[in-house]
Amino acid sequence: MAKGKQASWGGRFSAGPAALMLEFSESVSFDRRLAPFDIAGSKAHSAMLAHVGMITTSERDAIHGGLDAILAEIAAGRFKWDTQLEDVHMNIEQALTKRVPAAAKLHTARSRNDQVATDMRLFFKHACAVLREKILGAERALLAVAVGHPDVFIPGYTHLQRAQPVPLAHHLLAWLEMLDRDRARFADVAAHANWCPLGAGAIAGTTLPIDREFTAKALGFVDAKGRPQVTSNSMDTVADRDVFVEFASAAAIFGVHLSRIAEDLILWSSAEFKFVDMADAFSTGSSLMPQKKNPDACELLRGKSARLQGNLHTLLTLTKGLPLTYNRDLQEDKPPVFDSFDQAAICADVLAGMLPGLKFNAARCAAAVGDPALLATDLADYLVLQGVAFREAHHAVGAVVRLAETRGVELNRLSTADVQSVHPGFGADWADVFDLKRALSKRTGTGMPGPRQVARQLARWQKQLA
Ligand code: ARG
Repeated sequence: MAKGKQASWGGRFSAGPAALMLEFSESVSFDRRLAPFDIAGSKAHSAMLAHVGMITTSERDAIHGGLDAILAEIAAGRFKWDTQLEDVHMNIEQALTKRVPAAAKLHTARSRNDQVATDMRLFFKHACAVLREKILGAERALLAVAVGHPDVFIPGYTHLQRAQPVPLAHHLLAWLEMLDRDRARFADVAAHANWCPLGAGAIAGTTLPIDREFTAKALGFVDAKGRPQVTSNSMDTVADRDVFVEFASAAAIFGVHLSRIAEDLILWSSAEFKFVDMADAFSTGSSLMPQKKNPDACELLRGKSARLQGNLHTLLTLTKGLPLTYNRDLQEDKPPVFDSFDQAAICADVLAGMLPGLKFNAARCAAAVGDPALLATDLADYLVLQGVAFREAHHAVGAVVRLAETRGVELNRLSTADVQSVHPGFGADWADVFDLKRALSKRTGTGMPGPRQVARQLARWQKQLA
């Protein structure tokens, strides 16, 4: 490249960068998506420069008009991006300078270091709002499935072994708790992003009489009362990438939740469980085996979570050994963030889209949950209520289970004499324990799977997600 094209920093150089260096160092191929935020930042910055008298109001208006025109061209796909101009900031500034002479004053009291930090904080606020809306959509779809299946009961599992019976809705509401925490986490990330970096300059601010609070207000970096929030250390401002890590972390945790939900559904849809049938629209077939219907949507939700974790790891590794403050390494902070946003967004949409098509097989669920062994703990609780210490009760019920196994009968098919031979605490009513509805109705504490508790939770969620 000839000297002079990169007018922004070419002054002290006698030769331009090698073509290979340009190809290596460009970021416009991925950071061009920051354009709306970059332009918003430049409009606020130029408004501030006019406010403090560093440029005239007509210069400001010319800059604003030029930036609006460029934004329209970008939106229409007519803007000519030039990788030789390195990044989104240079591309926009150079295009503006060609049209508006006053644009030569735009970068007054600003560095790409505080500029890119600002663009990204605006991006995070936007991305968190988008993801929160999408996760909310998935939550509502999930709640509808829970509400729609009041009479389906399944075994709850620990160690993937049948543990205790639960209403299907209770299991689905467990997923809902996870997703709702994810949504809250993205709100926290947005709050942490809500501090304006502009004015930190390259590292040490500026000697020029800028008004940081004005810019912060213009860009919406304000608290609940509308008071401007500006970062408080110029060096930290251009070096800090905590919000990037937090965003990727929130996305990675969301991904882990999606993966666990997907894994439950994959298991439930197998012939071995057959609790649920997935909609054709979110399944695929096999190119070889005509009978196959594969839960690909869930498998991809599980698979994408690996990618979300990888992006978090990239950011942690990228920043861990960096000396303060800005280092060019930090240009690599954007691809993982954008990928986490894009993947988390489509994953939330896929979950929301797939849930309404789930068809639960009530008979298969009833057969699985009908195993009386799932209520062995309730039998121990029965003895506890007769005054037996829990450890002793647990031991006695274990012996009852073993006895049923050796006899080859279900737990509730033993005779009262059989169980009394194991422990004298068992009365004639011992087998009442195996009534599923009765067993669940005894679970009355907050957070338990009793019918009143589950109904209360469903009502709470319906109010909360309305
Ligand atoms: N493209 C750069 C990045 O994303 C913008 C900041 C450049 N700053 C600099 N001092 N070279 O990191």
